[in-house]
Amino acid sequence: MIHYQHKHLYLEECDVAGLVARWGTPLYLYSRQSIESNWFAYESNLKKQDHLLCYAVKANSNLSILSLLASLGAGFDIVSLGELERVLLAGGDPKKIIFSGVGKTAQEIQRALEVGIYCFNVESFSELLTIQAIAKKINRVAPIALRVNPHISVKAHPYITTGLKHNKFGMAVAQAEEGYDYASTASHLKIKGISCHLGSQITEVEPFVSALEKLLKTIKKLEKKGIHLDFVDVGGGLGVSYQREKIPSIKKYLSALLLGMRKEPYHLVLEPGRSLIATAGVLIARVEYIKKAENKNFAIVDSGMNDLIRPALYEAWHDIIPVLQRSQRKVCYDVVGPVCESSDFLGIERELSILEGDLLAVRDVGAYGFSLSSNYNTRPRAAEVLVSGKKAVLIREREQFSDLWSKEKKLNFSRGRK
Ligand code: LLP
Repeated sequence: MIHYQHKHLYLEECDVAGLVARWGTPLYLYSRQSIESNWFAYESNLKKQDHLLCYAVKANSNLSILSLLASLGAGFDIVSLGELERVLLAGGDPKKIIFSGVGKTAQEIQRALEVGIYCFNVESFSELLTIQAIAKKINRVAPIALRVNPHISVKAHPYITTGLKHNKFGMAVAQAEEGYDYASTASHLKIKGISCHLGSQITEVEPFVSALEKLLKTIKKLEKKGIHLDFVDVGGGLGVSYQREKIPSIKKYLSALLLGMRKEPYHLVLEPGRSLIATAGVLIARVEYIKKAENKNFAIVDSGMNDLIRPALYEAWHDIIPVLQRSQRKVCYDVVGPVCESSDFLGIERELSILEGDLLAVRDVGAYGFSLSSNYNTRPRAAEVLVSGKKAVLIREREQFSDLWSKEKKLNFSRGRK
């Protein structure tokens, strides 16, 4: 979807420099075609399996992105009331919403019950009791699944692994079994499924297969006690190739899961975020200064860790390419932002042929890019644009300074008085 034509960078059929002329930098661009093709990669490989694909809203929660996914038939995996309201506003079907997260508040639970979500993925015994109490109070039956912590290690950054004993997520299998015993007798709970989520940016299929096996084993134990479940949810977590690392394709990942599901009567629920949206996004920044330090060259751009925190937070790699290809010799740069932190970099040691004023494109930022952005250093958040063929539509205006302090109160302190 991203390619050069006569040395100019295009996203689908849109000239990136032209989009910047309209909307400025920093600018997030998303390719509709790329989102759709990732979505169909999932759907087309799941034809023979009862399933529900719940897009993990946290990856990118722009209303237009949610609305596009809802139009494709997506369900949604949410973790807050804010995400719930976004999904409803975007036209998402409440009956296809999974509510995950370790800290659901009473207010969040009540609203989710009122709109009739598909299921709560419950992360502790206390939460189960709270859901039962609220459901009873408002006279609803709460659909629940217990999130099991399968204690499976995955090769991923420690900040984004979630399926190990020391992580705060989910319940140990034995605890979950007690949870199911309780839920099966509780007046306002309906047991629907079992779930887990191992972590993110996972680069092999084996951990998913082992997790599925563990969940199915637990289901069988429950069945013996007369506790019946409808679905098994293996969460999200499939990685994407940021730096030409070998990642199983969506097809390969799904065929491994389907093999595990053969002859099983359950629905398969998945919660993909990154694998649906990461490769669809690119962040455009302008080179403000080229600075030659003693032993390094810096390309200082007008976008930094406030727009894209993944490099600072996880030392994550994102390819950085020029919007205009120049023929001059390439030079090695650290591509850094304007924020006052040494971790404010977008890429370290990148070979680029650039001049001050040039545009750079940071690739594969559709997931956990804008959604993790902030106003640190009182920097307005970037604009977002959805590209489809020759068309490009602004889906989030660039923030104005006044937006940044619109909720603040300025107390007036007169000088010299106590
Ligand atoms: N389901 C649950 C319960 C989750 O916690 C997550 C992600 C997902 C699904 C979606 O996982 P995915 O398919 O996107 O890997 N900020 C980090 C990623 C944190 C992921 C948190 N949970 C990053 O930028 O790499």
